Amino acid sequence: MKLSLAPLQGFTDLVFRRAFAKYIGGIDQFYTPFLVLQNGDKLTSSHHREIDPKIEENLAPQFIGNSLKEFVFFRDHLIGLGYTKMNWNLGCPFPMLVKKKKGSGLLPFPNLIEEVLSEGLDDRIELSVKMRIGHSSVEELEPVLTVLNKFKISEIIVHPRLGIQQYRGDVDLEAFNKVLSLSKHPVVYNGDICSLEDYQQRLEQFPNLEQMMIGRGLLKDLFLARRIKGEELPAAHERLDLLKKLHGEIYDSYTSYLSGDTQLLSKLKPMWEYFSANFNNERKVYKAIKKSGGMKKYHAAVAFAFQQGIKE
Ligand SMILES: Cc1cc2nc3c(=O)[nH]c(=O)nc-3n(C[C@H](O)[C@H](O)[C@H](O)COP(=O)(O)O)c2cc1C
Repeated sequence: MKLSLAPLQGFTDLVFRRAFAKYIGGIDQFYTPFLVLQNGDKLTSSHHREIDPKIEENLAPQFIGNSLKEFVFFRDHLIGLGYTKMNWNLGCPFPMLVKKKKGSGLLPFPNLIEEVLSEGLDDRIELSVKMRIGHSSVEELEPVLTVLNKFKISEIIVHPRLGIQQYRGDVDLEAFNKVLSLSKHPVVYNGDICSLEDYQQRLEQFPNLEQMMIGRGLLKDLFLARRIKGEELPAAHERLDLLKKLHGEIYDSYTSYLSGDTQLLSKLKPMWEYFSANFNNERKVYKAIKKSGGMKKYHAAVAFAFQQGIKE
């Protein structure tokens, strides 16, 4: 099974991906969180850092938008950097973006998707699409798949919830089955895989899947991809040591370009929303991190986390 890491804005940036690939591993394909262009044709300095091709392999930068001009600008920029893969976000449910017909807000408008694909594809770079099963109704699914079927797309990654559900409610496996039967492209499953058992259950339900994408479940158990691949994991104390190295590298990387403790803490603390689940007493760990107002307290909370030990 090929495994990819779901992009999570604010969590799976370059700093995380690089440290994860170095110390943990088990992921075959990475995606950047969505990159919003400034004024239609500008990448910010943080975008440039995110997609520096010298740093990372197996990366597909993610575009979000509905304008052919922006799509082509993004595509050509990536081709210029030597990328061979890009991804189009048709799934983000953030209301601000949805209102502008971006992310899952584009799913009710298959004609706009078709306009972009008709002119926007280029043989030098393959496009994958990441989508939901509709924005406000599953009725939107079939028209979108009909459009996608007309074009050369490397795979469609499907998170089987509606945009309006955000992350609430169960995933809709019936709708996912519909995608499998209607799509002529390879389909990647994404959503709520948080354990080896979840993975096995999905595979039993959809035995022909060749690729799955995991996000929050992997951040909560950083060794999940390796468990899924059936690897024998290092002993608990060695895994704890790897987490220490991962955290140390993330800390050092942010320190190297952020200025001041406030900025640094605003990057580091949110990460623990998921990261704390790797540790015993995860709630106490998360509480200590959340409460830490300054750098000294943050370091004490991190030391407390590592004292608790890693979950089996
Ligand atoms: C905080 C957060 C940020 C996200 N950011 C992105 C993003 O930038 N691009 C994207 O395609 N999906 C984004 N997603 C959706 C995830 O990639 C994924 O589809 C979703 O979390 C379901 O997978 P999971 O249950 O394995 O986490 C985000 C999800 C969360 C919770």
